[in-house]
Amino acid sequence: MAKGLFVGAAALLAVLCVAEALKLPPYIKPCRRNDPKLDECGLKNGKEAVARFVNGDRKYKIPNLSPLTLYNFKVDSGSRTVGINLNFKEAQIHGLGGVDIRATRFDLTKKRIEFDLVWDVFYVLGDYEINGRVLVLPIQGHGPANITVTNLVVTFGFDYELVPKKKTGKDHVSLTTSNVKFEIGRAYFDLKNLFNGDRLLGENMNVFLNENWKEVTNELGPSLADAIGEVIRQIIQQIVDVVPYDNIFPVD
Ligand SMILES: *[C@@H]1O[C@H](CO)[C@@H](O)[C@H](O)[C@H]1NC(C)=O
Repeated sequence: MAKGLFVGAAALLAVLCVAEALKLPPYIKPCRRNDPKLDECGLKNGKEAVARFVNGDRKYKIPNLSPLTLYNFKVDSGSRTVGINLNFKEAQIHGLGGVDIRATRFDLTKKRIEFDLVWDVFYVLGDYEINGRVLVLPIQGHGPANITVTNLVVTFGFDYELVPKKKTGKDHVSLTTSNVKFEIGRAYFDLKNLFNGDRLLGENMNVFLNENWKEVTNELGPSLADAIGEVIRQIIQQIVDVVPYDNIFPVD
């Protein structure tokens, strides 16, 4: 009896799964794959879409992006002997919802897509732990942090393959390589409780970080780019995992 119920439930689940070939979320309008102005279509529809899905969408496993919580968020200068190690056990990124898409570039023949994303301002808040050297000065501490970034422009590009999925019986986009470039207008650092709470040292270090924000963000650049890229990559992969290629770029 119980077994029969289980089999029945499994069969029902299987049917539901087959039906899981989702359309795009209603707020993302598809672009025809033969549209001669595909880039313009992508830009227009993309602008409308991002404003909506920053609140998250369970159906597509998109987390709430306002704020976005990152666990074990690490940025470092990549060098073990000199440089900065900055870790957050839990970082909250506020302001991602203010994203705007400035441009999109689709090359469906080469299977490559790029977006330029722009943020006026966002904040990284959370308890930090820092160690190492910034430029030549030793830095060490842990406590609440507020890192504010203004005028961030991120270019995210990825190559993909089309892979058939049993679950939907259709081809899906599968991201292969992706890359991220970014430029920052300015970064502001506010690290509380540096040097075990030594006020003078801590205040001086914050002044130093802010005067040298460019060098500091350059040092953290590659690992910051990886972190940004990973978030964008995961969001895109979540959607294309459930939405077949034909529904994203219909023939007509
Ligand atoms: C973070 O710092 C910025 C400016 O540097 C400030 O405008 C903002 O209110 C701060 N946020 C918090 C939560 O302290």
